[in-house]
Amino acid sequence: CGIVGYIGKRDVAPLLLEGLQRLEYRGYDSAGVVITGPKATGLKMVKAKGRVRDLEAKVPKRFTGTTGIAHTRWATHGAPSDVNSHPHLDPENKVAVVHNGIVDNAQELRAKLEADGVVFASETDTEVITHLIARSEADTLEQKVRDALKVIEGTYGIAVMHADFNDRIVVARNGSPVILGIGEKEMLVASDVAALIAHTRQVVTLDDGEMATLKADDFRTYTTSGASTTATPETVEWEAASYDMGGHDTFMHKEISEQPDAVDRVLRGRIDDRFSTVHLGGLNLDPREARTIRRIKILGCGTSYHAGLIGAGLIESMARIPADAEPASEFRYRNPVVDPDTLYIAVSQSGETYDVLAAVQELKRKGARVLGVVNVVGSAIAREADGGMYVHAGPEVCVVSTKCFTNTVTAFALLALHLGRVRDLSVTDGKRIIEGLRKLPAQIEEILKTEEQIKEIAAEYAGAQSMMFIGRVRGYPVALEASLKLKEISYIHAEAYPASELKHGPLALIEPALPTVAIVPDDDLLEKNRAALEEIKARSGRILAVAHQEQAKADHTIVVPKNEDELDPILMGIPLQLLAYHTALAMGRDIDKPRNLAKSVTVE
Ligand code: G6P
Repeated sequence: CGIVGYIGKRDVAPLLLEGLQRLEYRGYDSAGVVITGPKATGLKMVKAKGRVRDLEAKVPKRFTGTTGIAHTRWATHGAPSDVNSHPHLDPENKVAVVHNGIVDNAQELRAKLEADGVVFASETDTEVITHLIARSEADTLEQKVRDALKVIEGTYGIAVMHADFNDRIVVARNGSPVILGIGEKEMLVASDVAALIAHTRQVVTLDDGEMATLKADDFRTYTTSGASTTATPETVEWEAASYDMGGHDTFMHKEISEQPDAVDRVLRGRIDDRFSTVHLGGLNLDPREARTIRRIKILGCGTSYHAGLIGAGLIESMARIPADAEPASEFRYRNPVVDPDTLYIAVSQSGETYDVLAAVQELKRKGARVLGVVNVVGSAIAREADGGMYVHAGPEVCVVSTKCFTNTVTAFALLALHLGRVRDLSVTDGKRIIEGLRKLPAQIEEILKTEEQIKEIAAEYAGAQSMMFIGRVRGYPVALEASLKLKEISYIHAEAYPASELKHGPLALIEPALPTVAIVPDDDLLEKNRAALEEIKARSGRILAVAHQEQAKADHTIVVPKNEDELDPILMGIPLQLLAYHTALAMGRDIDKPRNLAKSVTVE
């Protein structure tokens, strides 16, 4: 979901609608906006099921004001509909609330309010907050909001307007991001800098338990118990242009194309040729501590989990520390054994994914050391972790992750090299890996040049009902990620298997109608991988190989440049991003906003 709000002198409705467009990647099943002005006597609201453009179409000609809050929703409680979309107003149209997060005790509070005669307009948990604020007898809006928050359990990022206090917007954060945008005689608020950056680069990120009052020419921050806090605006590094498609038809295509530069950024300033290692300043792990680590456990969700799987392989091979990755969502519910000699690493593009954040918090509560591998600077997971690495991919707008995945995996290669070099990786191997890392941007450029060939192959596969992805050891997580990418955006069913497991079951599925994509690097497992291709060919299966040389058994081979064996997985996934892209495109899918998915899942 996304929140944006504004208070100042400008005509607020177009500004908020534009802000919502920029947030749409976070949720897009319904949207709404409420506004008022210094002279207006009440709140004016429009809501619509569907995309922001559906809302835009419903906004009347004379819908003017200078203060407003807006929301784009991804349904949790209550199906997407006009009435369930935010903002939520009280029956007297005085209080308007937009909310990200979940009120855990909504049912109970709703029952209490209903028993008191309150009539609810929607099925949402958010409406509870509206009524609680409306019913508070406090004299100030700040205190009314505080009264409501006192009884609420759960997570929230909220923005509140009140017809009787129309010189301000009050916002609060607990577990869901709230960022203030500090302008010249105007203030903004949003759940994501994407909605602010066109107007100001000066931002204040609220902490959990913090609130703020925004007036046109002033803002102040304080805790939910009322104590003032100090907030110094920071400058956002990301360019507004990152949120434009810049000549591409989709953000996904743009972000795939940006990978050479993105990878260059994650390497920049970190390589130390003198000692054939890398500097990772934010790790907060001195060499002596690094030598005492007995295990590494990597946690993430979706694509970040897959990046973690590759990361675990990199760490095991370079640092010889046993490492594995697990979906954070599973980890946190199985009462894991938390071991003092294990280093935990949380991976998240957004730094907000709730399952990852909750896993980090649980680990910290148990005294574990947790590092973050995160893209968004200052995000919740980055702040909660004891240290970590930023992956510097720049903003990623397409719901499915491409450049962040590649950068995260590259960041893991840096970490593996660093840990390897304080342990037993030789100077020679260190040098070899560094040379490999330096080659990556140019090699990605090379791969991007095969786009036309991939497009033709995609046209052939676009009609498939289902596809199989196989890889072995390092290639297996590449297969997993490629299969996820394809299903997310094309809606073709796909599964990934270790190539070695084919004969233990999935071979039964192989027939001409089920194409297989095989990861076939030129490494010590080449012959084994070729044997798998033969097994498939013997069952008349069609094969697309991603390999370092043409594969005789494959119907098509996408040849990628060879790097060091350890680093090959970083490159081998890239043509398959393009395969997913062109397959989905040929099928007419909404690539940047696949059905039922959102960029960051900040709720359970
Ligand atoms: C959502 C997105 C996925 C993403 C996952 C983890 O499910 O749809 O594309 O991989 O969240 O996101 P994160 O921001 O934690 O990397």
